[in-house]
Amino acid sequence: MQLKTSLAGLLLHALGATATWTAYQEYLSGLPAHVSKHQDPRPAITFEPKQPFEKFPKSPSRGRNCYVQSHNDMETDDSPYILDAINKCNNGGRVIFPQGTTYVIGTALDLSQLCHIDLDIQAYIQFTNDTDYWQANGFFQTFQNATTFFELGGEDVNVYGGGMLDGNGQIWYDLYAANIYILRPVLFGTIGLHSGSISNLRFRYSPQYYNFVANSTDVVFQDINISGFSQSNNTAKNTDGWDTYRSSNIVIQNSVINNGDDCVSFKPNSTEILVQNLHCNGSHGISVGSLGQYPGSYDIVENVEVYNISMFNATDGARIKVWPGVPSALSGDLQGGGGAGRVNNITYEDMSITNVDYAIEVTQCYGQKNLTLCNEFPSNLTITNVKISNVHGTTSTKYEPISGYVVCSSPSVCSNITLDGIAVVSPSGVEDEFTCGDVDASLLHGINCTTVNKGSN
Ligand SMILES: *[C@@H]1O[C@H](CO)[C@@H](O)[C@H](O)[C@H]1NC(C)=O
Ligand SMILES: *[C@@H]1O[C@H](CO)[C@@H](O)[C@H](O)[C@H]1NC(C)=O
Ligand SMILES: *[C@@H]1O[C@H](CO)[C@@H](O)[C@H](O)[C@H]1NC(C)=O
Ligand SMILES: *[C@@H]1O[C@H](CO)[C@@H](O)[C@H](O)[C@H]1NC(C)=O
Ligand SMILES: *[C@@H]1O[C@H](CO)[C@@H](O)[C@H](O)[C@H]1NC(C)=O
Ligand SMILES: *[C@@H]1O[C@H](CO)[C@@H](O)[C@H](O)[C@H]1NC(C)=O
Ligand SMILES: *[C@@H]1O[C@H](CO)[C@@H](O)[C@H](O)[C@H]1NC(C)=O
Ligand SMILES: *[C@@H]1O[C@H](CO)[C@@H](O)[C@H](O)[C@H]1NC(C)=O
Ligand SMILES: *[C@@H]1O[C@H](CO)[C@@H](O)[C@H](O)[C@H]1NC(C)=O
Ligand SMILES: *[C@@H]1O[C@H](CO)[C@@H](O)[C@H](O)[C@H]1NC(C)=O
Ligand SMILES: *[C@@H]1O[C@H](CO)[C@@H](O)[C@H](O)[C@H]1NC(C)=O
Ligand SMILES: *[C@@H]1O[C@H](CO)[C@@H](O)[C@H](O)[C@H]1NC(C)=O
Repeated sequence: MQLKTSLAGLLLHALGATATWTAYQEYLSGLPAHVSKHQDPRPAITFEPKQPFEKFPKSPSRGRNCYVQSHNDMETDDSPYILDAINKCNNGGRVIFPQGTTYVIGTALDLSQLCHIDLDIQAYIQFTNDTDYWQANGFFQTFQNATTFFELGGEDVNVYGGGMLDGNGQIWYDLYAANIYILRPVLFGTIGLHSGSISNLRFRYSPQYYNFVANSTDVVFQDINISGFSQSNNTAKNTDGWDTYRSSNIVIQNSVINNGDDCVSFKPNSTEILVQNLHCNGSHGISVGSLGQYPGSYDIVENVEVYNISMFNATDGARIKVWPGVPSALSGDLQGGGGAGRVNNITYEDMSITNVDYAIEVTQCYGQKNLTLCNEFPSNLTITNVKISNVHGTTSTKYEPISGYVVCSSPSVCSNITLDGIAVVSPSGVEDEFTCGDVDASLLHGINCTTVNKGSN
């Protein structure tokens, strides 16, 4: 049975030339010739070369094993089997989704009470395409109207195994094109997790962000391979690799991301975040924000270190996006401004860019096209102690000959923004040409500033 599954995969692989290549076919084609029921060792987590802001707690090894049953028919909801195995192995055990097995999840899973447990996912897991069900039952996270297929939280949880989670995103990309207010689930919801690791997994076709990390501390993501683009004319929107929110001491490292929105984004109250060794393609960069979207709220992004990023085919490399001090509406689901807060102690070091619109972008006029209005109502968010260094490579033709943009809404809300070792060139060969405004230009080393704002510098 198991062997047949993998042979079927090879057959599909051979015949697949004409049909659309699905995530499931990709999963099958990656299986070994002989599929076996086994338990994988938990991957070692090493922090190289940068260390997390705080030491991670130790995770004791697990005792008993619980193998998850499956209908293995790509149709019947396997959620009861999954919950059953997790209940049996919570508090000290290991839940195994065996290699070559398929699971269907058609029920929103409350996994918020996990404790000292490992989930060894070697299998292929697909979430159902029942958009009505998920809109009514996905876990509503309030922030940006995001929902999640499941909520994984608790204490001391490790998820790994080389398997694949498939969000069945196409139906959502098409639905979103018809109605921007649909509630799209995030593929992997890490909500309220304290101490844990998510590693060696493949995430495909998320309806919305791939990862939402909220109310969590001491969580590391490592060796995650993210991919999924729309196969229709409706692009996959808001498919951020990671969004961190109300979380501290999070590490995201050694991963490959092919998506169409932020590669990683630090949302309100993300502190002590380390991001290193990522390969991002097609994204909107590694972004602080957007922040200040909601009046009356105070957003903090502080102590963030981003190191060794390869950025391809993106709108931005290093990006800080903050809403202006006045509410604005760019579109129905992109509106806000007027919120307060601070962005402080942010470091980007060593980034290579290829075909990126702006190597660096700092704006306090996010979501607003009228720069005059932004200067009239400066942002209520301050940006301080930012250092961006060793950024090199080539930009796209989008803003030719400009390679970067560092524009605050008033000198009083930005200080100590430093650039160093910038070597970015536009396709026509113009080097280090930036648009600057309302920042201390003496700290922007090695670039040529063309000033935009009246009364700036
Ligand atoms: C949804 O999935 C079911 C079960 O796999 C399938 O029969 C059906 O055709 C799918 N519907 C759409 C609209 O893709
Ligand atoms: C996080 O915790 C707060 C306070 O308990 C709660 O209101 C909120 O719903 C939780 N989840 C998210 C995503 O903020
Ligand atoms: C990640 O997945 C993509 C898409 O399937 C694949 O082309 C790539 O080789 C994978 N990368 C790594 C490092 O596993
Ligand atoms: C996508 O748009 C192009 C150009 O408008 C059109 O020719 C093509 O048929 C469309 N494809 C699909 C799948 O709708
Ligand atoms: C962020 O933290 C600040 C300071 O503790 C708090 O006032 C604010 O409500 C928090 N915001 C969110 C979205 O949790
Ligand atoms: C600022 O961030 C760096 C890492 O980039 C860290 O070493 C340092 O301790 C932080 N500063 C403060 C005051 O926390
Ligand atoms: C960048 O985009 C081009 C054109 O679509 C593609 O050929 C190339 O593989 C992409 N680069 C990476 C690293 O994915
Ligand atoms: C959230 O949904 C409500 C109700 O549909 C809508 O009014 C609001 O604009 C949405 N907000 C975002 C950020 O999408
Ligand atoms: C931009 O904002 C300014 C100041 O409020 C206003 O005078 C001007 O008409 C606006 N421009 C556009 C194009 O809306
Ligand atoms: C936010 O900024 C606007 C314009 O810059 C100002 O009028 C308003 O008082 C500020 N609000 C807060 C809460 O600081
Ligand atoms: C400027 O910010 C850097 C961190 O990016 C910090 O090390 C330095 O002390 C700050 N300088 C001042 C004058 O605050
Ligand atoms: C700035 O522009 C001038 C004139 O175009 C050029 O000679 C110089 O090399 C540029 N400087 C940098 C740092 O790119």
